[in-house]
Amino acid sequence: MKHFKLIYFSKKEKVQLNISKIKKTEILSNDDVGVKRASDIIKSGGLVALPTETVYGLGADATNPKAIDLIYKTKGRPSINPLIIHVFDNNYVFEIADKNELAEDLSSKFWPGPLTLILNKKNNSKLKIAKNALADLSTIAVRVPAHPVFRNLLKKCNLPIACPSANFSGKLTTTRFEDVLSSFSGKIDAIIDGGPCPIGMESTIIKIKNQKLSILRPGKITEERLKACNYSLQKKENNKNIIAPGQLTSHYRPNTPLRLNVKKPKKNELLLSFGPLPKGTTGISLSEVFDLNEAAMNLYSSLADLDELALINSNDTIAINTIPNSGIGIAINDRLKRACS
Ligand code: TXA
Ligand code: MG
Repeated sequence: MKHFKLIYFSKKEKVQLNISKIKKTEILSNDDVGVKRASDIIKSGGLVALPTETVYGLGADATNPKAIDLIYKTKGRPSINPLIIHVFDNNYVFEIADKNELAEDLSSKFWPGPLTLILNKKNNSKLKIAKNALADLSTIAVRVPAHPVFRNLLKKCNLPIACPSANFSGKLTTTRFEDVLSSFSGKIDAIIDGGPCPIGMESTIIKIKNQKLSILRPGKITEERLKACNYSLQKKENNKNIIAPGQLTSHYRPNTPLRLNVKKPKKNELLLSFGPLPKGTTGISLSEVFDLNEAAMNLYSSLADLDELALINSNDTIAINTIPNSGIGIAINDRLKRACS
């Protein structure tokens, strides 16, 4: 027999949930005790939301197909969209992926950190990554994260962790504990409270092919920085078989429509400003001092706050100032463009 109950969320949405599927979500501290508990949950096939230096992630044992299935179901993510496998160090990376000179070189410069590499999956690996985590592709996305809480978890688990961003598919990425809680409370086993994520933008995804790099998703490791390290970059691939967020049109979406490159907001609009918020306007500043890194860090949380405010105040649109298209501004503009499509 199915039981249903109406639950009122903060965003005043009425959501009908099947009670038998509601979980008690444990809130875990980011110290050794909390991380040990998170590790036990992951080892027994559960789902734990956790902080990374980029954004919050939804982690599960990458070798357990049932746990991976839960990630897809919980996020409402199409099963053809593969997950990033997070590992502690290069010993794990090259246990699950083929070694090549460029990958080793990039890893020595940027790992642990906000970089994901798409490499060829290693055949006959001792560590069996679940096929559904990789959407049956012959390539694998790997990242060695820098966040101390995530590193502690990877060490305690001694497992590769599949970890997409902690948001519902297509919706706003989360960079604060509170946003993860409001989305996933009752739906996953635990959430580690790690405070706000310092970068605020998903990792740069790089594919290595024929000794050349192509950026599939821009992030903190920018094209400029890669060029300064003498890497040669290929133009963006237009291969329909590769599934990457850069190729999905609608993504990172708040509920309220966005209007980009706005100088002055209209009467019923909220403003997301780059620079100080002009007098008399209602909104949030991404950075009062025109700092792109600060703007990146604040992007998703500001959009979440404005989205909530728009609902309460019945604003039609969130207007956004022009963001310079350089450095991490390229990643900000990429996400904003997708949020509008
Ligand atoms: O910063 C990040 O990368 C965060 C944190 C949690 O680590 N994770 C993240 O995961 O952004 P996700 O799933 O939201 O985005 C990763 C994207 C997927 O959408 C997928 O399209 C792409 O990586 N991807 C995974 N495997 C791939 C592959 N073999 N080839 C091309 N793209 C791949
Ligand atoms: Mg994502």
